[in-house]
Amino acid sequence: MGAPALKDESKIIDYPYHNDYKDWPHRHGFYHIKASYLLMVDNLMDLTHLGYVHRTTIGGNPQIHVDAKMETTLTDQGLKYVRWMLDSNPPPTYLKAVPFKGKVDRWQEFDFVSPSNILQWSGAVDVGRGAYEGNRDGGFSLRIFHGLTPETKDSCFYFFSTCNGYRQDDPQATEDLFREIETAFKEDKEMCEGQQLRLVELGEDTLVDIVSDRARVQLRRIIQRQLEAEQGGAGTKPEASKRKVTEAVI
Ligand SMILES: [Fe+2]
Repeated sequence: MGAPALKDESKIIDYPYHNDYKDWPHRHGFYHIKASYLLMVDNLMDLTHLGYVHRTTIGGNPQIHVDAKMETTLTDQGLKYVRWMLDSNPPPTYLKAVPFKGKVDRWQEFDFVSPSNILQWSGAVDVGRGAYEGNRDGGFSLRIFHGLTPETKDSCFYFFSTCNGYRQDDPQATEDLFREIETAFKEDKEMCEGQQLRLVELGEDTLVDIVSDRARVQLRRIIQRQLEAEQGGAGTKPEASKRKVTEAVI
């Protein structure tokens, strides 16, 4: 998309996991979504939806998602957040993959590269094994690449891949993981398409931001500044735009 003269190959995202068949065997998926790409990236910025929308797969108790410890930081290309659900029950997808005996320490790391790519690393290990301190081996671990491409104002294409980081030598595990995530993303698709219909019907004036929208609000500001910089002429405003973003407080 956009003017060919402005293309910059240095901005192509480096994602080595797609070439690492030994440690991160993966599968690709794709959905056509009848909703703006913005609703899809919004959705990936607020994971409290997991407890409601993905109960049978990657969800879990809604309250643990509300109580999750979350840190958000701005990056050169967007923002990054890490969420921790320490001492929590593993959700169904995790349990199918790894026979956890009890509670787990669970993490979700999301790296948003503006305007519409998200690099995800999620997983869990048995509670108390030091996951928070950096020991994340020996449990469940997956990586997902999310790439949203606008088609029209109200529709987009959703490209994604799921990388198996827990039973790499088992092709069935890679396949099963893909099926689980594909199911969850179909739930996201249905929800966002419903949101789109309501927004077209009612407009956005009555929407209210709540605490769990923190990362989403930042994301919208980042995209808005990028749009303004582009409309002001390439190469003139990006620096000013970047400065403003850095000063923003989350
Ligand atoms: Fe979701």
